[in-house]
Amino acid sequence: MTNQHIGIGDLSIATTHYMIEHSTLAGHQGVDVGKYHHGLGQEAMSVPASDEDIVTLAATAAAPLLERHGTSTLRTVLLATETGVDQSKAAGLYLHPLLGLPHTTRIVELKQACYAATAGLQFAAGLIARDPTQQVLVIATDIARYDLGTPAEATQGAAAAAILVTADPGIAVLEPVTGVHSSHVMDFWRPNHRTTPVVDGKLSVTSYLDAAERAYADYLRRGGRDLDEFTAFCYHQPFTEMAYKAHRHLLGAHGRTTSQQETDSALTTSTHYNRTIGNSYTASLYLALASLLDHRCDLADQHVGMLSYGSGCVAEFFCATVVPGYRDLLRADAHDRAITARKPLSYEEYRALHEFHIPTDAGQHTMPEQTSGPFRLAAVDGHERIYETR
Ligand code: CAA
Repeated sequence: MTNQHIGIGDLSIATTHYMIEHSTLAGHQGVDVGKYHHGLGQEAMSVPASDEDIVTLAATAAAPLLERHGTSTLRTVLLATETGVDQSKAAGLYLHPLLGLPHTTRIVELKQACYAATAGLQFAAGLIARDPTQQVLVIATDIARYDLGTPAEATQGAAAAAILVTADPGIAVLEPVTGVHSSHVMDFWRPNHRTTPVVDGKLSVTSYLDAAERAYADYLRRGGRDLDEFTAFCYHQPFTEMAYKAHRHLLGAHGRTTSQQETDSALTTSTHYNRTIGNSYTASLYLALASLLDHRCDLADQHVGMLSYGSGCVAEFFCATVVPGYRDLLRADAHDRAITARKPLSYEEYRALHEFHIPTDAGQHTMPEQTSGPFRLAAVDGHERIYETR
């Protein structure tokens, strides 16, 4: 067994019960909707209900994987989030009763802004290289929430992606060569006392582009593939136009020009989910991958360039090589149902949800029953989150 045969064995995404159209948002903000539809490349964004959080999203994304594969070889769960619900306890432990996880499982939470799930995939590959009989469940789950009335408000969203990392994967091999870049940049961060991040939007865009270029340069130095070898690319998508900016930047830095048609062919199918879900922070890159796989049927044996970026900042460039037969494992219909089943919110309903906060006192608080999915946050009692399975 070599590293070359480790990768994504299954992939499932989940999003929230509610959404708001950008046309609704723009109308109330007095902003030309063209800025959102074309400038940012966003049509709508997912909005969590009062009884949803990163744990219910994670459970909803992961349940179909465990139903299909069981848990007998599962030894590790890595939950990546920058929307943690506790400063100490890993959110993945709440999944134990919800998903029936085995007790012979190590569970830990990973954080580095929108990058952490990629670290999870690489750590998982290392564990499986050591023992190929084991499987690792990596779950990326996040709620992107910004202050009302800020330029970032239109780039909110929420989703989870569950990824089963295995030996001899059925969907995509993660090639062992990767390129990384990290540096200390204050472009986006959320101090412990804040429920929304502090953002320098313009700096975050230039920092993303610079880190992407440097991560790919490191990838090339380590023997990685030339840009021409990739059939498609998936970029972290805080808003979908960012993927196009990053792609043009990367090609330009390597003296390539590209036609609109070539760019669309390499990128557009990776943006369908994010365009209507919005930013899902560390899940966003894996929503892009799910979107690409679900919407293209010609990817067998093709190389997909993957660029992960987390503010602060860490970036990684790596290659996922798609495995013949991958389409048999996809969940395109379920993903489409999850997106189209969301209930549209009026602007007033969206404002009310945005202003809703989990009470911070030690009392018993029942959450309003708004969702209809398999898992919900039922109450917070004495600072303890109580979840319910339907
Ligand atoms: N029709 C069409 N296009 C329009 C338009 C109209 N009526 N009005 C404006 N536009 C275009 C602008 O020309 C601009 O296009 P370019 O980027 O090609 O120049 C685009 O719409 C956006 O307009 P602005 O630059 O004026 O937007 P803004 O400054 O108000 O906000 C933002 C943009 C700074 C990214 C803001 O949304 C933000 O702060 N977002 C949160 C931070 C973020 O997402 N950063 C991304 C990199 S960091 C990262 O990736 C990590 C992460 O997930 C947070």
